[in-house]
Amino acid sequence: MRRVYFDNNATSPLLPAVFEAMRPYLVENFGNASSIHHHGQQTRAAVERARESVAQLLGCRASEVVFTSGGTEADNLALFGLLKPGDHLITTNIEHHAVLNTAKRLEQIGCKVSYIAVDSRGLIDPRHVSRGLTPKTKLISIMMANNETGVLQPVEEIGRIAAEADVYFHTDAVQAAGKVPTLVNKIGCDLLSISGHKMHAPQGTGALYVRKGTLLDAMLYGGNHERSRRAGTENVPGIVALGKAAEIAHESLTNGEVARLQMLRDHIERNVLQSIEEVGINSSGAPRVPTTTNVHFDHIEGEALVIALDLKGLAVSTGAACSSGAIEPSHVLTAMGLKPERARASLRFSLGKQNTQEEADFALSLLPETVARLRELSPTYKRPALTFRG
Ligand SMILES: Cc1ncc(COP(=O)(O)O)c(C=O)c1O
Repeated sequence: MRRVYFDNNATSPLLPAVFEAMRPYLVENFGNASSIHHHGQQTRAAVERARESVAQLLGCRASEVVFTSGGTEADNLALFGLLKPGDHLITTNIEHHAVLNTAKRLEQIGCKVSYIAVDSRGLIDPRHVSRGLTPKTKLISIMMANNETGVLQPVEEIGRIAAEADVYFHTDAVQAAGKVPTLVNKIGCDLLSISGHKMHAPQGTGALYVRKGTLLDAMLYGGNHERSRRAGTENVPGIVALGKAAEIAHESLTNGEVARLQMLRDHIERNVLQSIEEVGINSSGAPRVPTTTNVHFDHIEGEALVIALDLKGLAVSTGAACSSGAIEPSHVLTAMGLKPERARASLRFSLGKQNTQEEADFALSLLPETVARLRELSPTYKRPALTFRG
């Protein structure tokens, strides 16, 4: 059966060039990057080259990049590494659970956390950040791009507020990297998280940017890896892959690739709006990454639509992969004021570099009929009076 994948915010397939770059480090170049002999020197050099590539994507120094096991660890290291009992954290109520559940844990150990609310488009108002500052505020952690809606927060304004208040600023850029520029000095952040598998590198790879001079406690103790900020023998193949993916991501910002994906995303949105009644794009009024769309198909259970489409070969999702199967509607969509029924009727299409126009058209060919069939079963759906289109 033909399978088309539009769930790249959950995870994205390894690009052949990324696999080719990492392959030798899975086989012949196996050395421990801390060893002083030839094998170690070879892998150390590869790790440092990858660090340079990630630094280029982020516009920082290589020494400011700490490799981690992914976005979750990068977020945890940023928050737990900085905050102590008694400190105050400002974040939002639409963060990924890698930040939200870390914040909850910090509350349990005596930190105070303020959760800034978003408006109906999914945007925070930076003035609420300024107003939330207290003498105890040590860190502001606000995501750059939301994983469900793609909404881009005004991180540069938040960066300025943090700098003026002399407070650290962390941004979770897991869903932004490679889709929009993520230059740390432009953003004005002290810490920034990325994840490899959202940009066509393998799962279990990622990095945290740590601005020089930021005093961060390690979470893992052991050897002096990563300048003692993250102990543990480096995942050399994964790091090499992340470096290659970062290079490709960096190029795709200017070589027309991101623009191509934006055209595909816009094509999907336009066609869905034209061909199906009672649908809408969540967060359409906000700045968004070019590769995500979140659509509500009223009168339908999103999970049922995901399953029905999957049976026809199309993979999309209802939002965060980690919370699918949960009965609760998305915390992001409900924070924007969507009624629970509409939040549950929402589907995310997220694009990756492997996607083609033809795949978008395949998705569009399945949607009207699948939606219509599920609506037939819906107690809230009233079939519109017969209309002729076209
Ligand atoms: C915004 C955001 N932050 C953090 C993460 C966690 O990253 P990882 O899966 O690499 O742990 C994700 C993953 O979905 C994400 O979308």
